[in-house]
Amino acid sequence: MKHLIPELEALKRRLPPHQDGVLVLPALRRIQEDRGFIADEDIDGLVEWLGIPRIQVEEVLSFYSMLRRAPVGAWHLQVCHNVSCSMHGAERLLAHLEERLGIACGETTADGRFTLSTVECLGACGGAPVVRVNEAYREALSVEAVDALLEELAGAAPPDTPGGWV
Ligand code: FES
Repeated sequence: MKHLIPELEALKRRLPPHQDGVLVLPALRRIQEDRGFIADEDIDGLVEWLGIPRIQVEEVLSFYSMLRRAPVGAWHLQVCHNVSCSMHGAERLLAHLEERLGIACGETTADGRFTLSTVECLGACGGAPVVRVNEAYREALSVEAVDALLEELAGAAPPDTPGGWV
């Protein structure tokens, strides 16, 4: 993340004094946008740059499910499996995705195009069941809609950063 410090310093200069802790989230977002995930060395660099305890970075990392600690495929499919989505068939969608992609939850396809995982409530319960595709939500999905989604993604250009915006 060291090459990002000049850019992050510019952001820091816009803050009131002694507010460096609020930079953790935007810095992590920028690091992930750059690398595709947040590595141990990024956390070390952030702790050193901000002069804050490591736990302050770990707290943010563990809270926000859009932040990744490991590489993902071009398309990261996160199936919400909390109550509303579960009651509307999330497990059926997950099983269908595992079958269609030929991988188990938590895995990436051999061609690096898809990673499948579950996620806690995405805050879109009214649209259950919800699957987050990289940074976008797909709501009220059926098995048929998931098939259409996979067809759409198969024909789409992958994002510049795996799991990122298109
Ligand atoms: S339970 Fe899935 S979005 Fe809330």
